Amino acid sequence: MDKKEFRKQAHELVDWMADYLENIEKLPVKSQVAPKEIFDKLPNSAPQKAEDFKSVFDDFEKIIMPGITHWQHPSFFAYFPANSSPPSILGEMLTSTLAAPCMVWQTSPAAAELEEQVMIWLRQMLSLPESWSGVIQDTASTATLASLLSAREKSSDYAINQHGFAQQKYRVYCSSETHSSIDKAVKIAGFGSDNLIKVDVDDSFAMRPGKLAQAIQEDVEKGFTPLAVIATLGTTSTTAIGPLKPIGEICQKYKIWLHVDAAFAGSALVLDEMKFMIDGIELADSFVFNPHKWMLTNFDCSAYFVKDEEALVKTFEIMPEYLKTAEKLDVNNYRDWGIPLGRRFRALKLWFVLRSYGIEGIQSMIRNHINLATDLETQIKQHPQFELLAPRSLNLLCFRFVPDTSLDIDTLNDMNLRILESLNATGKMFVTHTKLHGKYVIRMLIGQSDVTKSHVDSAWELIQKTALEIK
Ligand SMILES: Cc1ncc(COP(=O)(O)O)c(C=O)c1O
Repeated sequence: MDKKEFRKQAHELVDWMADYLENIEKLPVKSQVAPKEIFDKLPNSAPQKAEDFKSVFDDFEKIIMPGITHWQHPSFFAYFPANSSPPSILGEMLTSTLAAPCMVWQTSPAAAELEEQVMIWLRQMLSLPESWSGVIQDTASTATLASLLSAREKSSDYAINQHGFAQQKYRVYCSSETHSSIDKAVKIAGFGSDNLIKVDVDDSFAMRPGKLAQAIQEDVEKGFTPLAVIATLGTTSTTAIGPLKPIGEICQKYKIWLHVDAAFAGSALVLDEMKFMIDGIELADSFVFNPHKWMLTNFDCSAYFVKDEEALVKTFEIMPEYLKTAEKLDVNNYRDWGIPLGRRFRALKLWFVLRSYGIEGIQSMIRNHINLATDLETQIKQHPQFELLAPRSLNLLCFRFVPDTSLDIDTLNDMNLRILESLNATGKMFVTHTKLHGKYVIRMLIGQSDVTKSHVDSAWELIQKTALEIK
């Protein structure tokens, strides 16, 4: 494709993108294709000869689009959102046009310096400690892995990086409601899944600090070294919060690294009324949240903050001759702040978002989502045949249909599963589930960028109608 052709196709593509976003509500939220349906439509080898862009794009519309689940549809209430915005998309377009792997300062000074500055902005917006440093990672999973590796290296005086494990018997602690990325990070960091201790939760599904202290003390007595605790602000099943301060005090007492996983809920810290979530943050060592979940920024963009920048850099720093540069002290070479060498210029879209919405725009979106969820919570509570199974802390509702209290758990689980499948098959909304104390629960998270009261009202009507039909 020459540059003239690129210009023509790019203009048409932008029109397609704007049409897509304008008309997204005409599409089924959840893709309705069967497994392997897309794969079977694709040729089983790459084309020998070049094809023109039109035929590629026609196939995109014909083959690929039916297999897309529309995360930007306002009736996407599933998982956690990946809410995006027009300024973010435009930023992504520029990032992909520049196509610069931003590994060290000189590979694009603006990328390194913009990243440094937008991370300071985010740190201020969320009221994280002023002395902390921030870096953009691809995902929270990577940030949590980076945190456990830094904890490991700092604790072993960087000996494991050099010599491998000696006799260390490290233990890592999280709650039974912690995200699976922690299990993964523990495996990758070499601790062994047996050494991840899952602490009990309370009635709000948040970690019980007393149980944490007990588990740590027992391990100390058995000769283990308690290394790190992961506290979650906004658990994946129910968005349970913390409690950070008592967990932090236990970590201080035993000199344990405290990582805070606020992947979803962290964005809510832009609101003064939600700052209580980080009461005790000064006791933590690292913190991650995803602007790509709830801050209008295209996937992927995960903001990782650390108390001890030197420990992070010393964990990852590698200096082969071909990467040595003259600039050392005043600028950041982000390849030393995480796992990959080449890094996408993610700060650009974040900068576009922060400037285009301002702190007030982001606050008002988040507040609106919480208010919509609060209204729906009232309606669910008032309905005699629905019950909430977890307290609402932000914008997630966990509920199930109970038409008759004499029905046993298996019958209710099966009924609610069928309700969920039936709702998603309509294409009008998309919800996912979790299980709490063995009970099948419908999770509805109101957090898509363009969701309004009318989307929530229509969804709630559809839920009630579907439940009565299935009963
Ligand atoms: C609490 C929590 N932590 C971590 C993650 C992992 O996020 P990522 O996809 O950015 O790795 C999730 C994903 O939903 C999550 O809910």
